[in-house]
Amino acid sequence: MSAWPEHALAAASHRDPYPYYLELARRGWARDEGQGLWLAASHAAASAVLASPACRVRPAGEPVPAALDGTMQGQMFGRWLRMSEAPIHQPLRAAVAACLAVLPSEEIQRRAQGLARRFLAERQANGKGLDGLADFLPAATLASLLGWPERSLLHLSEQVAALCRAVAANANAAEREAGEAACQMLNAELSTLADAGWLARWRRAFEVLGEDALCANLLGALFQSRDAGAGLLAAGIAWRCAGPWDWRDDAEWRRRLRADPVLHHTRRFVAEDVELAGQRLRAGDQVLVLLAAAALDPAGPGEAMDFGRGRHACPGERQALAIARGALAALEEIGPDWEALDGSMVFRGPPNVRMRRFGAGASK
Ligand code: HEM
Repeated sequence: MSAWPEHALAAASHRDPYPYYLELARRGWARDEGQGLWLAASHAAASAVLASPACRVRPAGEPVPAALDGTMQGQMFGRWLRMSEAPIHQPLRAAVAACLAVLPSEEIQRRAQGLARRFLAERQANGKGLDGLADFLPAATLASLLGWPERSLLHLSEQVAALCRAVAANANAAEREAGEAACQMLNAELSTLADAGWLARWRRAFEVLGEDALCANLLGALFQSRDAGAGLLAAGIAWRCAGPWDWRDDAEWRRRLRADPVLHHTRRFVAEDVELAGQRLRAGDQVLVLLAAAALDPAGPGEAMDFGRGRHACPGERQALAIARGALAALEEIGPDWEALDGSMVFRGPPNVRMRRFGAGASK
């Protein structure tokens, strides 16, 4: 592997992308002609893009990727909070954030720990087993809290994975077909759950927004938890491989996430000409917001940016950390061979996630 990442989209899987990010953060803005992207790398540039109403989460005129037109996935995608802009974004965000906020961290951690314990009881705690745990636990914990029966959680997490692959920009026809089947199955299963507990809370919060918005955003929350949640959990394991650390402390997670982030970038589409942090952008431009570089910027406040900023910032940060803590608590009980895991670790995952894999990339 070369000393410098080939380009920003390859940086998250590079062994040491941080000198590269630091250099970009010092420059503030850069243009990558090869990828057709502006890179917003300083804290000021990244924050300005995330705060600007001119920078949207979807390209103007294409709220849903054309490849998903006429599918159930496309309908879901178009209703997701993550893919929405004003005026619907604000009420959707209020509803999703309120539902996530009602769950106490201790309850989430306990549920995650119990599920992780039972998952590991049926497998070896080797690289492959831990990759499987990272893929399984985030969506499974949320689904379990919604009332999904435990026997179908493994299947559920595989369906959510299929959905993630299907909506990726580089998905092929077979992946989109599998995603469509997964989407239909998840919806059908959702409709069989008892309307009680946390699910009843979601239903109340979505009374005005409607049933379609509710179903889409329940699946949207599972979708959002999946890749980033696996990356977070695997980072916690990798740091544990290097020696004991205080994973019970959220402040310690944030300190580590600033130095070695999990979520490296997000994308924005410029809807109208605008000048942000000294850079002129034109309608139709695409911007890669380098959260990992912005967190390192010596001129910034020195905070982790993994969970984003501004109006689309992650409403699931506390919940994601509780799930990762639950996994580490279960792993400490069985004491895997941390040294062997460390030796087998590689970086391999979606372009925006620094995803550690311990089982030579075989996660199933
Ligand atoms: C319990 C697990 C999680 C849930 C339920 C969740 C949910 C969400 C939702 C609903 C959004 C869209 C917010 C909006 O557009 O207004 C979002 C955004 C985001 N999430 Fe999460 N998330 C989870 C885990 C994570 C993790 C583990 C990370 C990072 C390691 C992360 C990073 C982000 C980022 C960076 C954004 C903003 C993206 C952007 O501005 O383009 N999330 N999340």
